[in-house]
Amino acid sequence: MDKIIIEGGVPLKGTIEISGAKNAALPIIAATLLTEEKCVIKNVPALRDVFTMLKILRSLGVKAQMDGDRVTVEPKKYKRYIADYKFVSTMRASICVLGPLLAKMKQAKVSMPGGCVIGQRPVDLHLKGLRALGANIKIEHGYIVASAKKLRGKNIFLGGAYGSSVLATSNVLMSAVLAQGRTLIENAACEPEIIDLANFLIKMGAKIKGQGTPIVEIEGVKRLNGATYSVIPDRIETGTHILAAAITGGELSIKKARIDHLSALIDKLTQIGVKIKYSNNTIYVKGKASALKSMDITTLPYPGFPTDMQAQMMALSTVSDGISVLTEKIFPDRFMHVSELNRMGANIFLEGASAIVKGSKRLSGAPVMASDLRASAALILAGLVAKGKTEISRIYHLDRGYEKIEEKLMKVGAKIKRVKE
Ligand code: EPZ
Repeated sequence: MDKIIIEGGVPLKGTIEISGAKNAALPIIAATLLTEEKCVIKNVPALRDVFTMLKILRSLGVKAQMDGDRVTVEPKKYKRYIADYKFVSTMRASICVLGPLLAKMKQAKVSMPGGCVIGQRPVDLHLKGLRALGANIKIEHGYIVASAKKLRGKNIFLGGAYGSSVLATSNVLMSAVLAQGRTLIENAACEPEIIDLANFLIKMGAKIKGQGTPIVEIEGVKRLNGATYSVIPDRIETGTHILAAAITGGELSIKKARIDHLSALIDKLTQIGVKIKYSNNTIYVKGKASALKSMDITTLPYPGFPTDMQAQMMALSTVSDGISVLTEKIFPDRFMHVSELNRMGANIFLEGASAIVKGSKRLSGAPVMASDLRASAALILAGLVAKGKTEISRIYHLDRGYEKIEEKLMKVGAKIKRVKE
């Protein structure tokens, strides 16, 4: 198993290029199951989660391969409709083959995705939406077993205890495009990844309106054709690198980025003193040599502050001036990074779904353990500013969502390396 070693204290300088979005690529690759024709998906990040999705497609009898950042899928008349536990247990996003299989094969058997360290993560909204379209669904031996003679369009309210759901919206959208009649999804998720999925489906011949708003309207069609599509840049990877410049007091040009997907983050960073400019798909970030101001953050569904940036923002707040409060409204238990940051000398305590952070002058390098994808990114950021050496283990979490992160950071001056444990 690999680990990452960082020598902190270097202000980063230079250019970083952003990869395609993991959370857009995964449902888009799953959506290719809705056609029999060839699909080519470009700007796909070479990540463990993408490889898992390709393995699921191959296990269904679909020809799927990746070459550089290009994925080619030839579904033809695949026969299987079972997504095995062995895949789903390693990646929750596997659930987004449920909708396409049900719509195309009229049956699907997908292992129930368990909880994970960031929370319980129920799938009741997925099942509610698909049942509303006419699917019979039962849970058997740890699998969601779904079937439908015919899916029919319906008005569906898809709001849960924590607001909208990204993957539930994706699953219902991918089923409704081949359902008979009109579907209206109310309280749909508005994330850029939903817009990207809808735009890919429209390229395949689907009829969709309102993507990116809480009301999405779909007129079902009989069949979908193949398509070629390029995935949007990864806004969370972009946000993570912006914070790498901010936390080290460095200066970075972040290329192939979309600043319009990061308004809540940019607004917060500007308030606390980070200088940010944008032109030609490049974000220019200038951190401050002195401490940044403290912050109050509450995570919310898009366009609110993204929960996938909470851990990284907490790392920044540990070296900011004053008391910061970070409240997690999407995954209230998403605080596995707190104890590891405290091992590095941070001063954080939890109060319900809020973390209270007393900013300190300097963190000190230490051996720490990654617990989930975004927590690992927070530990990298903390290691970049800490005094001395930080060793991060269990970085398989990081490889799920960041393409070559240590190479990209090394290129802009970070003293970082990956070593075999
Ligand atoms: C997506 O997960 C992302 N994953 C997550 O990113 C991200 O944190 C999350 O959206 C929120 O932005 C992918 O796109 C692959 P949700 P998803 O359903 O769709 C509750 C990362 O780091 N809920 O929008 O699974 C749920 O428990 C990952 O890249 C229900 O109650 O998240 C949560 O509290 C981590 N019932 C809230 O809704 C349901 O049926 C939002 O979850 C579904 C969700």
